[in-house]
Order: sequence, then structure tokens, then C-alpha cells
Amino acid sequence: MCGSRRADVSGSTNVPHGREVLPTNVKPVHYDLTLEPNFEKFTYDGTVVIDLQVAEDSNSICLNSNEIDIHSAIVSSQGAVVTSNPEISINKDTQVATIKFPETLPAGSPAQLKLSFTGILNDNMAGFYRSSFKSPNGETKYIASTQMEPTDCRRAFPCFDEPALKAEFTVTLVADKSMTCLSNMDVAAETDVEGGKKAVKFNTTPLMSTYLVAFIVGHLNYIETKNFRVPIRVYATPDQDIEHGRFSLDLAARTLAFYEKAFDSDFPLPKMDMVAVPDFSAGAMENWGLITYRIVDVLLDEKTSGASRKERIAETVQHELAHQWFGNLVTMDFWDGLWLNEGFATWMSWYSCNSFYPEWKVWQTYVIDNLQSALSLDSLRSSHPIEVPVKRADEINQIFDAISYSKGSSVLRMISKYLGEDVFLQGVRNYIKKHAYGNTQTGDLWSALADASGKPVEQVMDIWTKNVGFPVVSVSENPSSSSITVKQNRFLRTGDVRPDEDTTLYPVMLGLRTKQGTDENTMLTERQAEFKVPDLDFFKLNADHSAIYRTSYSPERLAKLGNAGKKGLLTVEDRAGMIADAGALAASGYQSTSGLLSLLKGFDGETEFIVWNEMLTRIGTLRAAWLFEDQQIKDALKAFQRALVSDKTHELGWEFSESDGHILQQFKALMFGSAGMAEDPVVIKAAQDMFERFAAGDSTAIHPNIRGSVFSIVLKNGGPKEYNVVLDRFRNAPTSDEKTTALRCLGAAEDPALIQQTLGLATGDEVKNQDIYMPLSGLRGSTAGINARWAWIKENWDAIYKRLPPGLGMLGTVVQLSTASFCTEAQLKDVQTFFESKDTKGFDRAVEQSLDAIRAKVNWVQRDGDDVKTWLKSNSYLRDGKL
Ligand code: BES
Ligand code: ZN
Repeated sequence: MCGSRRADVSGSTNVPHGREVLPTNVKPVHYDLTLEPNFEKFTYDGTVVIDLQVAEDSNSICLNSNEIDIHSAIVSSQGAVVTSNPEISINKDTQVATIKFPETLPAGSPAQLKLSFTGILNDNMAGFYRSSFKSPNGETKYIASTQMEPTDCRRAFPCFDEPALKAEFTVTLVADKSMTCLSNMDVAAETDVEGGKKAVKFNTTPLMSTYLVAFIVGHLNYIETKNFRVPIRVYATPDQDIEHGRFSLDLAARTLAFYEKAFDSDFPLPKMDMVAVPDFSAGAMENWGLITYRIVDVLLDEKTSGASRKERIAETVQHELAHQWFGNLVTMDFWDGLWLNEGFATWMSWYSCNSFYPEWKVWQTYVIDNLQSALSLDSLRSSHPIEVPVKRADEINQIFDAISYSKGSSVLRMISKYLGEDVFLQGVRNYIKKHAYGNTQTGDLWSALADASGKPVEQVMDIWTKNVGFPVVSVSENPSSSSITVKQNRFLRTGDVRPDEDTTLYPVMLGLRTKQGTDENTMLTERQAEFKVPDLDFFKLNADHSAIYRTSYSPERLAKLGNAGKKGLLTVEDRAGMIADAGALAASGYQSTSGLLSLLKGFDGETEFIVWNEMLTRIGTLRAAWLFEDQQIKDALKAFQRALVSDKTHELGWEFSESDGHILQQFKALMFGSAGMAEDPVVIKAAQDMFERFAAGDSTAIHPNIRGSVFSIVLKNGGPKEYNVVLDRFRNAPTSDEKTTALRCLGAAEDPALIQQTLGLATGDEVKNQDIYMPLSGLRGSTAGINARWAWIKENWDAIYKRLPPGLGMLGTVVQLSTASFCTEAQLKDVQTFFESKDTKGFDRAVEQSLDAIRAKVNWVQRDGDDVKTWLKSNSYLRDGKL
């Protein structure tokens, strides 16, 4: 009975169609949870006493449980035991435990369920799991930590594991006296228990969702700051230098103060702990008051890490702290609303980052980062609406993707610009106040924003969150009436939109930029409309790329816009966004690829990092799609890249000084890497020289900003000698950042034996599960690497499947990574055939999206193969089929 309460088609229950949720006869109010991990057996013993509100007369209680051995259950009502021997059955498929008893729990009176159980301290980075590190004498040591989101709290203890079933939690951990015990709250009492251990009891939490519960047991060091109203600490295992937590610690204090003001709402917990966990599947997790992180996303050694690592850490810390309000205090009512959590935390982290580090200009980066990730995934037929129905646990992990994070935050960026940031934030404050400790749906956010602005927010935004995809807006010019005609159609990367897929009409905020300024109000709500433009000499749509669409101009207009960019009429966002649009439109057949190449060539005098970054991304995408084509064409494309980047690279140089700003550092690194991979001989020589000094023991010979590029360049042009030096850095470098940089680069070595060695790392025990994707992703640069990687996946499928269980998300990453580099029809068939006979539950979206991405490349190369060849010839990168 339990777990099968699906809504029928007539909708006679209020459960959205097909969603698998628990019955509502009882509701949890409070959990009293005690856990004692056993580090020898890798198990833990637990008891949980759950106070329940009984909504209707009940003879059963259903709650979630997964891979937990429940030994006993006692049900009481109003303080008296009703049964101590109920029937317990577990449905492994729905992860529901049903407790049945003949007596009746009367509606309206409080009841209690006490369970004792044993769980597995697993090594899958889900639920209550073990994580290992090496002690100075090489011994493997363990800590126990948790990752509950989305549906693994039920793996840690039996619970009502749905975000809307908020309750209070009182946690007690039993452990060796020498160990640190942490949970969401501060310690209430510490007592001695038998066996020389201690019981650490934490204060009761406020009302919260199960996916935010956390506890950690192990030997940990910490640093603390008192610069915020409540103490903040960073914890790490003893193999790490705890001082590397200083940057995140200080930033957390500033960020919490900033958010308290921005949300006009005090952080409600008595402390904030942030822990670097050696094994961690995502980047970080926002558990209320106890944020967990992958080591590289929280610990920073400014001496050995580059500028981009620092920015990533800043983003991660601020993202998780934003969740303390958006997600933790106010929570989506079910996983369909995941974007409310992730989209908002993403927007908020960029907002605060921009305030703390204005010189980083992160909103410029946004246009080439989140906006492009959103448009890229959402241009596939296999994308999904922001608000996507999810029914089963194994579907939930798959929507932590660019739609929830990047399209979600793009939608918020769009509406915040439309309403004005101040009005937007006023609406957000009202929303937080109204729904604190509660659950919401997307409509609740829209109505708070509508109240604050007096504008019909829901009407404009609903279409964006409820539908898949976005439009391409085609512009034609009417000189006689000084106007433009704009027309919207669904955009698909494969370029094969069917009429039945092109029925949604989006409210498109046109953002018309002219010499007079920008019009923020005009909206295209029809299929097609005409708009006056004061002077057709200069105009551009989507000013700053604030809205979610691509613009298709005539080739002549595109050339004029290129010139306008040179004259300073366009912002950095405009230039980068325009190049991104041109790249995407060429790849999908809306424009010619030769037009894209000419546009890029004309940008050789560009001065800004972000614009160069997008230019190089687009050349990279083109070269990746042509990877399985004739060597001569590939060489000509490489020659084009080299010609484009060499001057700028040499002008900027690759020396880094104290006075280089954050952006300049990344600019130099970008150009150096690009020129090196395009075989600029001076850059290759420089990389080899630095590497030689480095290999001889001078650890400062390679600046951290270009460490990855130098490794990749020398590996691509080297052999086993270079490989072994980089491999040694993976094994022995002092920080996690350096180790993983080395691991990511190994795949650049193209010698077949070295490719096998890299694949061997993904099979063996040396690389942690959390990092398996790193050696694999490094193989994407060569046909030999891509082919060997796929062969390896096919041969080792069963072992990989076992090592990375599909419900946990990592398998999807590996599958996508190992297939999406393909470009030909035959490869498409091969991938399709392989997965046809497999159970793809838990990673079916990854497979579909990969296949779509390959299809798009097949179409592109077929369509524009000759066009590209002709352009390369007429621009002298290819002569009569020869270089
Ligand atoms: N809530 C997520 C962590 C998460 C991801 C849980 C996937 C379950 C499945 C967390 O807030 C998050 O978004 N982390 C990001 C970091 C970030 C800076 C975008 C991550 O892990 O990459
Ligand atoms: Zn998040």
C-alpha cells in the first residue's frame, strides 16, 4: 500500500500525477536520533524516536528507508505503547518501509514511533558514509560524514524523506572521546558513556527538511572566526593544512552579514561549520549550519593555486551560504521546484560576489558561463522545462543540471533586470518573511515579486519555467520605415525543429540597444512584430544578453555589429554574447560557419578577456565537431586559431606579477593555453623549458595559473618521461588542487600505451570515485583518446556500473563525458546500440543528451563541411587541399 499513492488520472487526490510520495495519515513533528558509527565494521547502530501527528485513524505508518536493517519498532500513542511487535515490510524499489499493526492510532492524538536499526557506513558518498585520508605514516584513516540531498537521508536513518515534511531534529552522536562530532546545531551536552566513549547531544534544530540533516564524526582540525554574530569554523582532516581554510572562513563571515542585510532576516542557527570532506560527490552541500565541501572547493593555498580556483571557491562558499535562506529557511515543496533552490543560490552568489569583488566583473563572466550553459543544454530536444515533474527518487539526481542552475538563474537575472534589482530584492525579502520555515512553489515567488513591483510577473515568467527551450529571434530590416521586423521560433541545436515543437510564444524582452540608449521595456509577445528603430545605422538586440534567446542577424548586419564593437558602441557582454550567438547559430544551420569564421577573424584586435574567452570557446567547439575529419582541414583550423591568438599571447606574455589583476592573470593564462594547444612554437618551447626546471625540482618554475596548460602542452608533445613527472604530481603534490590538476591533464598524452595507463587510473583504486571523471575528461582532445575511452567503457561496463551506482549521479557524468565527444553517424549508432540493451534508469537523460549532441555535430559537419573548407582556402589556411 505504502509508496504507491499515485494520483490517478482523474486527479482524485491532490498529489500531482504519478509522483511517488508517502501517505499523509501521519506527519513527523520531531526526530530524536542517536547514532554510533563503528569504524572497524563500517556500520553504525542507531535509534530514532519520531513524534508524529496523526491526521486520520491509522493502522500503519509508512516512511522511507534504504539499505537499513530495522531491528525493532515500537509504536506508542499518548505515551502508552500500542505495539512493540508490528509487522515491518520493506519495498526496495520504492524505498518505503511499512509498519503495520492491528491497533488503531486515533486521529488527532500524538503518537510515537521508535525504531532501532543498523546501517552501512558505505563508500558511495551517500547517506551516512565513510571518507578516507592518509595519515603522515601512510596509514588510511576514516571519518564518517553525510550527504542526504536529494533522497539519501533514508539511507542514513528511517525518515519521512520529502522536502515538505519538515520537522525538528535532536541528534546525539556516540564516538571515541578523541573524535570531533558535528551536526547542524551546537552541542547541548557531552556525557561519558560505557566503553570509554562520549555521547554528544546537539540542540534541537528549527523546523527543517530531511535532506538538510547532517552529522560528521572523526579526527578534525579547525580554525574559527568571531567576525560574525555567531561563530564560524572551517574544519579539515589532519592531512590538510587547516590555514588553507582562512580565505573561505573570512569570506563566510562577510557573506553571512551581507545576506542577513540583503534578506532582512537573521541567520537563525547558533553557529556555522564548514567542513572539507576528502570524499565528496558534488562540489558542496548546504546542510543547515554544517556545510560540507569537496576539499578543492573550500581550501585555498594562495601560493600554489591560480586565480580561477579562488573564484570557484568564492562562488561555492557564497552559493551554499545563500541556500541557508533560499532552500533551508524557505524550501521548495517538492523536487519539481528544485530550480527555486539552485537557480536562486546561483543568482545570489553572483550578486554578492559582484559586491565583494567588483574588479572580478563576474556578471560579464555570467554571459559566457551560466547563460551559455543554459542555452546550450536547452537547445537539445532532450532538455526539460525548469519546472519538471519528477516522480521517483532515481529521477531527481538527474535534474541537478544546467537547466535548474543556469537557466534557473538566467530567468532570475532576466526578471531582476526587468523589475530593477532593488524592487526584485524587496520582493525576495517579502517572500522570505512570508514563507520562513515553510515550503513554496514557483508561483509564490512570482506573487511576491508582483506585489513588490506592481507588474504581472507570473504572466511573463510562467512560460519560461513551464516550457522547454527558448527562441531564436530573426531580425530583418525595413529601411523605408526605419524599423525592424523580429520573429521568434524555437531554437534547436540540431536545426530540425518540427512545427509541433514550435508552438510556444515566449515573452521576449527585446532589450533594443541604439545610439540613444537601451529600451528595457519592449517585449515581443507575438510570433512576429515590427518595431521602430531611431537610426538603422546602429542597433543591437538583447543588450548585455539579459534575456534568454539567440539573435539571428543578416551577414551584413553581423559585419556592421563587428565594426560597432570596434568603435566602442557595444559592452563586453554584448560582444561576447554576440559571438556566442553567432557560434550557436552556425552550429545549428541558422547561419553559415564561414560567417562565424569571418566574424572571429575580425575580432583579432579585441582587448577583453571575456570576449576572447568566448571566441576561443567557439573555435574549440568547431574544432571538436571537426575532430574526426581530414587531417588537413583540422590542421588548417589549428593554423587559423594560431594566427588569431599568437599576437595577443605574445603581447600579454606569460609572466605573472603581484600587480596583475584577477582578470589579467586569467587572460594571460587563457591565451597561453590556447596558443600552446594551437602549436605556437614559442609557447611550446616556453612550456617545455618551465617543465624541465619543474621536473628538476624547482616547484615554482610553473606559475599556478598556467600549470594545467603547461602539463597538457608537454604531454601532448612528449612521451613517458613527461607523463611520469605529471603522474608523480598527481601522487605526491602537497595540495588537492595540484593533484587534481595533474590528474585532469594526463589524458593529453596521446601515445596508446599512455592512454591505457590513464584509463587504468580510472579503473584502479588510486583515484577516488569522486575524481574518476578527471582522467577520463582529459582524453577528449584526441581521436585516439576518445576512441580508447569508449572502448574502455564498453569493456568495463559492469564494473563501472557497480562502482558508480546510477542513482548517485556520477555514472551519468561518466557516460556523457565518454560519448559526447563523438561526431559521426557511425559513432552515433554505436553509442545508441550499446545503450539500447542496457537499463539506463538513473542516467537516461545523460544518454539522450549525449546522442542529441552527437546528432547536432553530424548535421553541422555534413551541412558546412564544404563551406568551412572553402573559407579556409580563401583565407590561405589551406592551399589546394594542402597547408
Ligand atoms: N545542493 C547542491 C549540492 C547537490 C548537488 C546535492 C547535486 C545533491 C545533488 C549544492 O548547493 C550545489 O549546488 N553545489 C554546487 C556548487 C556550486 C557553486 C554551484 C556543486 O556541487 O557543484
Ligand atoms: Zn546549490
